[in-house]
Amino acid sequence: AEVVNAEFVKSSVKTEECPSDGLPEFALVGGSNVGKSSLLNSLVRRKRLALTSKKPGKTQCINHFRINDSWCLVDLPGYGYAAAPHELRTDWNKFTKDYFLNRPTLVSVFLLIDASIPAKKIDLEYASWLGQNQIPMTLIFTKCDKRKKKKNGGKRPEENVQDFQELIRDFFQTAPPWVMTSSVTNQGRDEILLHMSQLRNY
Ligand code: GTP
Ligand code: MG
Repeated sequence: AEVVNAEFVKSSVKTEECPSDGLPEFALVGGSNVGKSSLLNSLVRRKRLALTSKKPGKTQCINHFRINDSWCLVDLPGYGYAAAPHELRTDWNKFTKDYFLNRPTLVSVFLLIDASIPAKKIDLEYASWLGQNQIPMTLIFTKCDKRKKKKNGGKRPEENVQDFQELIRDFFQTAPPWVMTSSVTNQGRDEILLHMSQLRNY
């Protein structure tokens, strides 16, 4: 399941503009700043293949990256607060959801949730939307390297992860698979790559 080769393919702002090579793909989605681009870099063992920033709103397109010439990782704009105009964020939300609903080569969505803070309403709503639309999903808890802080609710990542799963239970017939990760320590990297290879059947 190792990544030998990773390359940027293209940026798209419409489902129809996405690559037509027919390769299976996995999309990283989640709130702005949750760590989607950082996770992609961790998976491919590159520091700056996908661009990251402290400022939410860095990724603004559907970005395809080809892995081992045989499958794709897709970096997406985040939802929720971002340092970008409201209209632009509405656009991101529209083309991202259109992409989920109309992309035949999309094998599974990876929904990223920040494990260093308590569950957010917008994440619960997103999980609910994916469940209602029966879009295959894996839950990725990010920033598991962060220690608990009083100002963040005072819970450990493990506790926030349990709470989140409890809150989304009714949205799915079977509980989605989940992985705890950190792009700082690379926790969860091998588990995700193995899971993706199983979903592709090779
Ligand atoms: P947008 O593209 O703006 O939606 O954000 P994103 O989800 O792609 O987040 P990005 O990867 O750009 O990371 C946002 C910030 O979180 C950066 O400052 C990262 O260094 C930090 N970050 C990402 N992953 C982790 C993690 O696992 N642990 C810690 N401690 N920080 C992280
Ligand atoms: Mg990003």
